Amino acid sequence: MMRMVDLIEKKRDGLELTTDEIKYIINGYTEGSIPDYQISAFTMAIFFKGMTEKERADLTLAMVESGDQINLSDIEGIKVDKHSTGGVGDTTTLVLGPLVAALDVPVAKMSGRGLGHTGGTIDKLEAVKGFHVEIENDEFIDLVNKNKIAVIGQSGNLTPADKKLYALRDVTATVDSIPLIASSIMSKKIAAGADAIVLDVKTGAGAFMKTIDDSRELAKAMVGIGNNVGRRTMAVISDMSQPLGFAIGNALEVKEAIDTLKGEGPEDLTELCLTLGSHMVYLAEKADSLAEARTMLENVIKDGSALEKLKVFLSSQGGDASIVDDPSKMPQAQYTFELEAKEDGYVSEIVADEVGTAAMILGAGRATKESIIDLAVGLVLRKKIGDQVAKGESLVTIYSNFEDVSSVKEKLYENIKLSSTKVDAPILIHEEITE
Ligand code: URA
Ligand code: CA
Repeated sequence: MMRMVDLIEKKRDGLELTTDEIKYIINGYTEGSIPDYQISAFTMAIFFKGMTEKERADLTLAMVESGDQINLSDIEGIKVDKHSTGGVGDTTTLVLGPLVAALDVPVAKMSGRGLGHTGGTIDKLEAVKGFHVEIENDEFIDLVNKNKIAVIGQSGNLTPADKKLYALRDVTATVDSIPLIASSIMSKKIAAGADAIVLDVKTGAGAFMKTIDDSRELAKAMVGIGNNVGRRTMAVISDMSQPLGFAIGNALEVKEAIDTLKGEGPEDLTELCLTLGSHMVYLAEKADSLAEARTMLENVIKDGSALEKLKVFLSSQGGDASIVDDPSKMPQAQYTFELEAKEDGYVSEIVADEVGTAAMILGAGRATKESIIDLAVGLVLRKKIGDQVAKGESLVTIYSNFEDVSSVKEKLYENIKLSSTKVDAPILIHEEITE
């Protein structure tokens, strides 16, 4: 007979739990026979004592098995999913989907809305008139087989153990534990049916992990779990000391994705998409090397087939694909304002999460579950870290449906800093971790 108190003690003393013990804990917690207070003590013990590689893999699989799992086995090919640990104005998903699908890598994406500076991928795509993700599972599978790309709204009861555990960690100061974060993220990817996983671990002021050391530790933990449970996994550690690309806002980011698929996007967003995309194509076994994968991706941008894939994807799910050639058909803000530099200098800092909050104040994101998103509004950065600016030049264009944006401007001035001396642009890709 297992007793939770003994297992808490075992972890408290730094011993390794067995697969069955971890299953017992997760099953008991999910069904309600083990109370919150014991799990609180358990997660705190993990916070201090950590978990071995084997424990992390066991915990992840126990959480995967706590609920429904998406079965993508009727989709031909290796399903590679991409996950980002969250950033500001991160348009990579919108770019990468059509980009790798153009090379026949199947993209079977389940996506949500969620809280944040801007909407989730589904909200962004709703800037395209008619586009919808309420499709049946069979249709979803058929679309992926036919077009190599489809997005479906979240359904089913995926990883209920993680939902319960995450909420508990939130109020017991145990969110910041690498094994718990890593197993939480990986359980969701695995339950969603990914065969292989490319992780984009953000680092810097605007990221969940603020330092490169913490980001590397999280990346290694997730890569370790993935590979231990039979899903090839790798991670890129990328910069989030400033927002990625220029646009932060829903329709604005769709336009930015279109520009990027045309080969006319921001340099950093383009480079990150080519890097992540190369790993996706390689893991999907569509290329023999990363270099070959990259060339193939550059080619589908140049010859227009990535952009064509976006059109097919949008129209197959009811969307008006003519927005690709004419993005002004998407929701447009009533007013635009320029944030003018108050002095000459070089941009030295763009505090990503605060700038994201400015976009949210305009209505681009949800502060609470009930908030309604304004798809038209947001920010477009005109300068990034390292750029020279002259007094009076625009730092940011503000797209608003409010006439008074003084509080937004104030927030932006506080969080976009200028220096009188030259500043280097930050490194975009810090590391690539494959084991
Ligand atoms: N994101 C998750 O999904 N889980 C965590 O534990 C932390 C961040
Ligand atoms: Ca962006």
